[in-house]
Amino acid sequence: MLYRIKQFYRGLKAKVTPEDLQFLRSYLTAEETALFRRLRISEQRHCLNIAYDCLAEKEHSPLLIKAALLHDVGKTKSNLTLVNKALAVLVKKLRIPGKILPVFLTKALYYKEQHPVIGAEILQRLGTEAPVIFLTRYHHRDLTRKPFRDGEYSAWVTVLPAERNCPDQSALSPDDTAELVLLLKTLQEIDEKN
Ligand SMILES: [Fe+2]
Repeated sequence: MLYRIKQFYRGLKAKVTPEDLQFLRSYLTAEETALFRRLRISEQRHCLNIAYDCLAEKEHSPLLIKAALLHDVGKTKSNLTLVNKALAVLVKKLRIPGKILPVFLTKALYYKEQHPVIGAEILQRLGTEAPVIFLTRYHHRDLTRKPFRDGEYSAWVTVLPAERNCPDQSALSPDDTAELVLLLKTLQEIDEKN
């Protein structure tokens, strides 16, 4: 609870500096940067903080930093304001049945649940590298309950329609599931702490 209050307060004070913008542009394309900038400032700050923390990790890669910046882009059209986000957490905790919820809370819960899928679809359309899309798509997957099998990433990437359009994947992409899952774990751990 204390963590949530702190998160709320930090969200209120969030800002993005010119140095952050420079950092962003060194990892993202112009289109990805424009997409990122459509997030609420509190979300932008959250993603930047995760990216900086990822950068401080011994085992980081440009791929991980990029995923850290883009993993929540599925929230760009959401109504997940700081207040609605807090309410959505409360609704889930109290297990309030969906049918008695007001429309704005149903929408907030929808985005809370679906933003990884929505974000992955948006990034596919932009031609973002497949591993970044993968990390975005699964950043809330419970890896203890639903671990990935060997080769699952390779199987997944072949059904990704926009994968053909991804720029120079070879420079960034480990096409190995285990390696990507390690990056996913790092992203999830740092996301939890932020
Ligand atoms: Fe998320």
